Amino acid sequence: MSSDKKFYITTPIYYVNDRPHIGHAYTTILADVLARYHRLLDEPTFFLTGTDEHGQKVAQAADKAGITPQDQADRTVVRFQELWEKLDITHDDFIRTTEDRHVIVVQKILQDLYDKGEIYKADYDGWYDVASETFVTERDREAAAPESRANIVRIQETNYFFRMSRYQEWLVEYINEHPDFIKPDYRRNETLGFLRKNLNDLCISRPKTRMAWGIELPFDKDYVTYVWFDALVNYISAVGYCSDDKKFKKWWPADYHIIGKDILTTHTVYWPTMLKAMNLPMPETIFAHGWWLSGESKMSKTLGNVVNPMEMIDRFGVDSFRYYLIAEMVLGQDANFTEDGFIRRFNSDLANDLGNLVSRVIKMIQSNCDGRVPVPDQAALDRAEEQELWNTVQQSADGLQESVRHMRLDNGLGRVISAVRATNRYLEIRQPWALARQEAKAELDTVLYMAAESLRVASALLYPVMPERMGILRRSLGIEKVDPEFDSLRKWGGLRSGTYIRSPGSLFPRVRMHVSSEKGIKGNTGPDAGCVDKNKIKSADRMEEELKEKPEGVFDVITYDDFARVHMRTAKVMEAERVQGANKLMKLNVMMGEERRQIVAGIALYYEPDDLIGKTVVVVANMKPAVIRGVKSEGMVLASIKGESLRLITIDGEQSTGAEVK
Ligand code: MSP
Repeated sequence: MSSDKKFYITTPIYYVNDRPHIGHAYTTILADVLARYHRLLDEPTFFLTGTDEHGQKVAQAADKAGITPQDQADRTVVRFQELWEKLDITHDDFIRTTEDRHVIVVQKILQDLYDKGEIYKADYDGWYDVASETFVTERDREAAAPESRANIVRIQETNYFFRMSRYQEWLVEYINEHPDFIKPDYRRNETLGFLRKNLNDLCISRPKTRMAWGIELPFDKDYVTYVWFDALVNYISAVGYCSDDKKFKKWWPADYHIIGKDILTTHTVYWPTMLKAMNLPMPETIFAHGWWLSGESKMSKTLGNVVNPMEMIDRFGVDSFRYYLIAEMVLGQDANFTEDGFIRRFNSDLANDLGNLVSRVIKMIQSNCDGRVPVPDQAALDRAEEQELWNTVQQSADGLQESVRHMRLDNGLGRVISAVRATNRYLEIRQPWALARQEAKAELDTVLYMAAESLRVASALLYPVMPERMGILRRSLGIEKVDPEFDSLRKWGGLRSGTYIRSPGSLFPRVRMHVSSEKGIKGNTGPDAGCVDKNKIKSADRMEEELKEKPEGVFDVITYDDFARVHMRTAKVMEAERVQGANKLMKLNVMMGEERRQIVAGIALYYEPDDLIGKTVVVVANMKPAVIRGVKSEGMVLASIKGESLRLITIDGEQSTGAEVK
């Protein structure tokens, strides 16, 4: 499918104050996967990433390390570049904001805006949060946690301001008229909510006397530029703004700025107003994804729970790490990173479903077809099972394409793994091993060809997520064009009969699991990875099997009257504390209308007490009171539970407490 469309995608540029962690890795892998899918769709693609090297945060880190900010940047940028290489990131450019090609453009823009009267000088008196490099209000400062408050400093000085406020009305209108501009929709609403308050002008300078690590203002040598005014410009300086008109016309506006939800305002308010002042077109979509949490808590250095991507890659391999991150996160929402979750998904999707299919098909072709792709029997291919399987495979390609468009990669990958499962089921039905015993050669060849074709398509669809492993698989199937083309997916018969196939080795050796009472299941991909210690893994495996076998959608039917006996009400959590001596239990104090209730809930493994305060939850109000671990409980809170994850049912938007839920 060739198209005239181009695809320009960016990641945020990362601060060089510290080494990269899983959050940075995630955004970059996501952008890489999207770039690779668009290349597969034959769209000319430009994928940009880089580092944000100026500003107070970097200057402070350098200070702490006793080196210059430039040294700090030079040392840290290598860590990002090395990680991207290890993660198979296919960026077309890597921009550093200390590079001349960027500095020149920032200064040119500043001068132009200054000349046009978009920038003026005035006194500033307010609060500045060094951690996020943004100005905050008195209210924000008061609401900040004590450890964050330490990073919020008072600034009283003369500075330069960008007339951002004059674009407020225009921006609201633009966002309203362009539903795809900010995605997902709830982030769009968040920005619109922010724009309901008066928008201030943006302070875009720092006097060198206080902070000299930045790009000098071209019209006042005593100042440097505010780091965000500098950083956002990378999206245009890298594609030739003010330096290469042809290149700039080819790529700008960007199709996607992929960002984390933490930097929504800078991207959806500062950046569009800056572009408007420069008279440049807006990016098509700013997409904010959620956060990776460590278990249920925010990753933080102080908690010591930051996942190190290098370590994960060393233990589990690049491709499975990429696959897990993309398959696990519903784009937009937060996701929990747990090692158990990782191993479960790896073993189920990759080792069991895909890995088994690969080894079955390749082994059977090797031992029954002289190691060459067999010739299928045309008539046999018209049978219902074969047609149905091919339809499923085709639909997985359609589903994945749709999911790329709608940013639901988790769904898309699910469709592909379903097609893999359907192929395994097909083999169970057709029993090629029995056909081999019966020497039913023509039938056997058809079945193996069918399964291998399905693998060919799956390997192409999964290639953008797992380029290394799928590359090996494709080569082993004798496919010459390892880098797939979407077009070829639609066509039956991509595998050439007679081509020699090779064993790809064990693509996804099952991760051995130990059950330890303390920490749950731990993975091991050491030298003995893939060998199964039956005694140790039995219960973990059984758990998995039970999960699989549990029939879905089979319920006891109840009448409306049965349901109506349960009285559910909204309630606001006023206080929360852990129940002493019971690691799963949390004691909540909630207001349900005028009534205060105490509820003991089994949610303490999933929430911190502070996370709960202020949430409006749903309570079963007519539960018979009970005493749990010596603590009285007067109701039950509702939550959604699947496998290892538990999320409270909360009320979307404003609703008074004590309201009925039906
Ligand atoms: N330098 C700015 C961005 C400037 S873009 C013009 C910045 N840098 S950062 O190093 O702090 O990176 C922030 C980005 O890292 C987030 O927007 C997000 O993409 C990613 N993540 C950091 N932690 C994260 C998680 N825990 N989970 C997912 N991604 C998060 O902000």
